[in-house]
Amino acid sequence: MDVNGKFFNTGLLIVATILVAKLISAFLIPRSRKRLPPVVNGWPVLGGLLRFLNGPIVMLREEYPKLGSVFTLNLFHKNITFLIGPEVSAHFFKAPESELSQQEVYQFNVPTFGPGVVFDVDYSVRQEQFRFFTEALRVNKLKSYVDQMIIEAEDYFSKWGSSGEVDLKYELEHLIILTASRCLLGREVRDKLFDDVSALFHDLDNGMLPISVLFPYLPIPAHRRRDRARKKLAEIFANIIASRNRTGKKEDDMLQSFIDSKYKDGRPTTEDEVTGLLIAALFAGQHTSSITSTWTGAYLLCNKQYLSAVLDEQKKLMEKHGNKVDHDILAEMDVLYRCIKEALRLHPPLIMLLRSSHSEFTVKTREGKEFDIPKGHIVATSPAFANRLPYIFKDPDRYDPDRFAVGREEDKVAGPFSYISFGGGRHGCLGEPFAYLQIKAIWSHLLRNFELELVSPFPEIDWNAMVVGVKGKVMVRYKRRGHPLN
Ligand code: HEM
Repeated sequence: MDVNGKFFNTGLLIVATILVAKLISAFLIPRSRKRLPPVVNGWPVLGGLLRFLNGPIVMLREEYPKLGSVFTLNLFHKNITFLIGPEVSAHFFKAPESELSQQEVYQFNVPTFGPGVVFDVDYSVRQEQFRFFTEALRVNKLKSYVDQMIIEAEDYFSKWGSSGEVDLKYELEHLIILTASRCLLGREVRDKLFDDVSALFHDLDNGMLPISVLFPYLPIPAHRRRDRARKKLAEIFANIIASRNRTGKKEDDMLQSFIDSKYKDGRPTTEDEVTGLLIAALFAGQHTSSITSTWTGAYLLCNKQYLSAVLDEQKKLMEKHGNKVDHDILAEMDVLYRCIKEALRLHPPLIMLLRSSHSEFTVKTREGKEFDIPKGHIVATSPAFANRLPYIFKDPDRYDPDRFAVGREEDKVAGPFSYISFGGGRHGCLGEPFAYLQIKAIWSHLLRNFELELVSPFPEIDWNAMVVGVKGKVMVRYKRRGHPLN
């Protein structure tokens, strides 16, 4: 081999080495630098699905001890990365929409809520629509909603006899539909159209099935009924809005607030948007609140210590204010508040919150391990699981409302995302104060006016429902008090 040949070969070797080095650096080094979360073991393709269908909480209970607070599940072609606990879920709650968005993962709501609202619109419009919710739920509005909640509760329970047995779950569901109807949908619906509108909401509700999450437009009878009901509701609300506009009569309800809402550019809401926002409010608030009222009752009736604590609180408030109940008096019910909050810690109706990742981000676990969560992953956190983490909540499966009392405040010790029944951060629940007021209004009335006893076994969890609630009936024996508590 001559000198030129030697140079040629050496040159080739150098070029090849550089190329290989480049390839290694392109494929291996970046990959090895990426600290991807561990992956849930399972058979390819269907394994993840089977694990998920078996119940997401069962899967979390099995995997969290093995894999820790950050791990990925392969579900079909999607990667779902779970972030469990306040240390790793902070970004989930705080990230801007451009980094972690709700739009894709909550798309399945679009045929129910209707066009032009919430997850059917850009984030900038959605933000304005959430501003309408915030305005409709301001304290001055809440004060007048509370007066209506109290009238509804008094009216509803006046129809109970002097003693008897009822399914508390059914009763509270019905009362809450009536209250929501009055405060949110308006007087016209509550007074004249209640049965028609309830039936239509029932069809909307039944059109939201687990299969709808994956295929919201699948041509099945339940979806067809949902679409018909949505159209009919739009007609009903268009008539009500037109009649309010004609007469110039204003009411104290969320409907009025949405009619009066304006976008930044001065554009008023359309009739279709008002209908869609009301449906969204009802979907966000109705089952969640009635489920929480039922759990609150079940726990109080099984925990004599807390039952007597809430009764004492009611007695004291009655000594101070007489029989009167209003927004400010409800705000004084701290013991009842903690009892509701604890029922909601153990049983958050929204068990899984989701986002879609639009850019890579890094999380750090409490052990100091860092993981990079890639763009394109679905990111999930679970109130049902995180609310029972033993390093945050002492003896986490125990009903212990005092864990929120001054001095313990377990919901705050690990930062703002320790207790996440209402989510938190950028998309935290806008209806939280409304929900507490409603549940307190119902329970203060029941406690003051009835002696109650749970006669069926302590209820189980209905994991199969979209909004996870109570399985079966919750039978309660009641006896009307001769005179209210004091
Ligand atoms: C016990 C009752 C309730 C519970 C447990 C609850 C729970 C939640 C949770 C967990 C979120 C966050 C969802 C996420 O991050 O993906 C949320 C958001 C929301 N909730 Fe509630 N909710 C309740 C009652 C209500 C009520 C009564 C209303 C309205 C009347 C309401 C309106 C909303 C709205 C508008 C949002 C969206 C906020 C946003 O994305 O910026 N909720 N709720």
